[in-house]
Amino acid sequence: MIEADLILYNTSQVHTCASQGKPKKGKSMSDTGAIEQGAIAIKEGLILEVAPQSEILKRYGSSKKLDVGGMAVCPGFIDPHTHIVFAGNRINEFEQRVSGSTYLEIMAAGGGIMSTARAVREASVQDLVEQSLPRMQKMTEYGMTTIEIKTGYGLDLPSEMKMLQAIEQLAALSPLTILPTFLGAHAFPTELKAEPETYVNLVVMEMLPQAMEWFKGSSFFQKGLPFFCDVFCEQNAFNLEQSTRILTEAKKIGYKIKIHSDEFTSLGGIGLGIDLGATSVDHLDVATVDDQKRLSMSETVGVLLPGVNFNLGSTHFADGRGMIDRGCAIALSTDINPGSCPSPSIPLMMAIASRYQKLTPAEALNACTINAAFAVGVGKMCGSLEKGKLADLVVLNQPDHRYLSYEFGSNPVKYVLKKGNLI
Ligand code: NIG
Ligand code: FE
Repeated sequence: MIEADLILYNTSQVHTCASQGKPKKGKSMSDTGAIEQGAIAIKEGLILEVAPQSEILKRYGSSKKLDVGGMAVCPGFIDPHTHIVFAGNRINEFEQRVSGSTYLEIMAAGGGIMSTARAVREASVQDLVEQSLPRMQKMTEYGMTTIEIKTGYGLDLPSEMKMLQAIEQLAALSPLTILPTFLGAHAFPTELKAEPETYVNLVVMEMLPQAMEWFKGSSFFQKGLPFFCDVFCEQNAFNLEQSTRILTEAKKIGYKIKIHSDEFTSLGGIGLGIDLGATSVDHLDVATVDDQKRLSMSETVGVLLPGVNFNLGSTHFADGRGMIDRGCAIALSTDINPGSCPSPSIPLMMAIASRYQKLTPAEALNACTINAAFAVGVGKMCGSLEKGKLADLVVLNQPDHRYLSYEFGSNPVKYVLKKGNLI
């Protein structure tokens, strides 16, 4: 009998979302790796084994057992794309949009990302941490165990560095695993709107190297976690040439690559991301069929953010069904931010993705677990319930995982375990 720290048992099914060390592409996204009446043995925050309960109880003993009352269990959710660190809110812009203004119009008039940047520039690191931590707690209540967090509301060197410091403090205060992303190229700051090349130079020559220096001295680096550089490649944001320059430089000095691409306009960002070996390409609302095919042949994960379309009152969604049928690896994310998607709920994103992007509940589950983990470069550490991985998992308050997509507006999560501890 092997001694475990914790045995979780009395499940309906354990959905392992196990993959072969790779993101799930195409058809394999419909397999959740279910083990009927599975149980899980955990030691030192890691998974010892997942197997049918009868076998686990024969092989493992523990003074601590968690009876989950016949409910379904799945990996902890992973959000591969968040802007959760910000100050203030954009409720006024929300009202403007309800009354007919578009997201791009508000942005072109100096609102949008720039209006949050004004609030972030005035905030201290502590303000940012105090305002962001409750949002992370809400995400956790909805089953989140790992999140990526972007900068991009500073848009000058000191304010971007302040955001990185806030991200590091949040990582120290929260039980979640956090992955940092530098997104200095999120928008052109008002003061340099007329001189876009000056801002691109600032990003390339000053921000990228200094942010990398910060990373190398950070707890993230010590833990062996990756550091990403992202760019918003879009009309009125960064064009293809500017995006290419920034991401190429970033890659040269050690960043992993991400790109916001094809949210409103197809400028070629998907191809750029794939050519640079991006970990993920994100949004993809207007991705062409050719780009979808290229994505399917690459190692890059496509991250879809259907909460944005919903929040912007749009009936146009990224073609998730088409991408999966063409063999892409797809992940889902909240994109939580004050403008395009102020929601902490990943189950809500599954519900929207099922209805409007025709992802089956099983595909949506894999998209929020194993594929999301690969979308932030940690697919070998978490995202599925497999031997040796982090014991990050969610106990639902239903015996059937499909409730995640089926029901919406309520919280389907009963317990969240991070490294084997209830949080
Ligand atoms: O992913 N598209 C660009 N960036 C964010 C929006 C950020 C904001 O509106 O504040 C996004 O949707
Ligand atoms: Fe975003």
